[in-house]
Amino acid sequence: MSGIDYTQRIPNNVGLGGDVRLQRALEKWQPSFLSWWHDMGPDGFQAHNVYLRTAVSTEPGGWANFGHVKMPEYRWGIFLADAVPDRRIAFGEFAGAPAWQEVPGELRAMLRRMIVVQADTEPASVEQQRRLAHSAPSLYDMRNLFQVNVEEGRHLWAMVYLLHAFFGRDGRDEADELLARRSGDADKPRILDAFNEPCDEWLSFFCFTMFTDRDGKYQLAALAESGFDPLARTCRFMLTEEAHHLFVGETGIDRVVARSAELTRASRNGRASELGGIDLELIQKYIDYWFPYCLDLFGGEISSNAADMFAAGVKGRYQEERKYTNHSLLGETMALTVFEDGRLQTRDVPARNALNEVLRGEYRDDCQRAVDKWNKTTQAEGLRFRFSLPSNRFFRRQGIYADHCFDREGNPITRGEWERRAIDWLPSEAERAYVRSLMLPVTLPGKMANWIGAPRKGINGKNIDYTYVRTA
Ligand SMILES: [Fe+2]
Ligand SMILES: [Fe+2]
Repeated sequence: MSGIDYTQRIPNNVGLGGDVRLQRALEKWQPSFLSWWHDMGPDGFQAHNVYLRTAVSTEPGGWANFGHVKMPEYRWGIFLADAVPDRRIAFGEFAGAPAWQEVPGELRAMLRRMIVVQADTEPASVEQQRRLAHSAPSLYDMRNLFQVNVEEGRHLWAMVYLLHAFFGRDGRDEADELLARRSGDADKPRILDAFNEPCDEWLSFFCFTMFTDRDGKYQLAALAESGFDPLARTCRFMLTEEAHHLFVGETGIDRVVARSAELTRASRNGRASELGGIDLELIQKYIDYWFPYCLDLFGGEISSNAADMFAAGVKGRYQEERKYTNHSLLGETMALTVFEDGRLQTRDVPARNALNEVLRGEYRDDCQRAVDKWNKTTQAEGLRFRFSLPSNRFFRRQGIYADHCFDREGNPITRGEWERRAIDWLPSEAERAYVRSLMLPVTLPGKMANWIGAPRKGINGKNIDYTYVRTA
């Protein structure tokens, strides 16, 4: 069933009306969600009319309906991708067995924890971004921000549905906790570190949607392979929404690059900042700051947890079914670069224990593809400047490299050297303050802030100067 029932208080395609207990429980959670949205959703724009898309079906392509809505009236709901008939578990110890429609008792704790960690990032990002609209560089960008925000809200709904439907009492308690934690709160912070820092300017927002949301894409894709079928189906549909968030990040950075390149050429000394833009070198520093943070989100390079989840059939690899033939990995090894006895060396580790690193590799390749695009942009402007990704060992705070210092190329250096040179690689306080100083709102339809280029086209076939956000 792919059609979505909008006659219900909670739009859904899971036949919620046929399960009165679950429906009541979720209808009780709904007002708490709305009051969280009022308190922690986009600050100051709740009464504006925003040109948003809403899911009307979960079929691939053409699933969205567009129109102006006030965000608190957005129809958040529970949408799962269609079931694959006779779906089988694709990997691990249970490969070949029918996918689970209920949670197997022995996997309950593992699955619940994983769903809660994923779920927690969804409202967290809305909280981190709640003041951004005040400095939007255009109405087009403001609209995209709000689209991302309402969909992160919907992803929370997707996860809360799983908690309510499959985890009983504990699941309901966890669902309540998801609305009680707050990004950056000293007493009740969000679970992952990266989700406790405010995102208060737009270059960081584009880095977030480019790099952090892209981590989300790979986590969701790995869970879309899960033997727990409701989780797999939820993640498959979330991925279709997530694609837009990644588009916002990747093209957002590209537009900054294009404008910076243009200003670089026009300036007397070859610096975009002379003309009120962001220097290409500073964009590179933002990349070097955000990318390692997001590498950390994949977890340790050598991880028994990753091995357990793969063995249990809970979390697969990226495109496990499509890309791989060996779905067991027992007895296989993978060569990892480790830092031991004061030097870098290669060590073979059991392949299942290296799965976080495998997923991180897929992610890095995807980021590199975007970097190559940005380089086409600088090239088209006739500049020699090229962007690159730092080594996976650079500036890590989690995993096997976290306790050592490495330069941008991944060579080991002393702590003293790191402290002297970090300023060459990462944005300084003054540079961050400069970027913040550029963030003046532009609200005339079709106009862009000076530091960013126009998008190639508008949303859903509308012109760039369409009034994507209207005051009520
Ligand atoms: Fe999300
Ligand atoms: Fe997202």
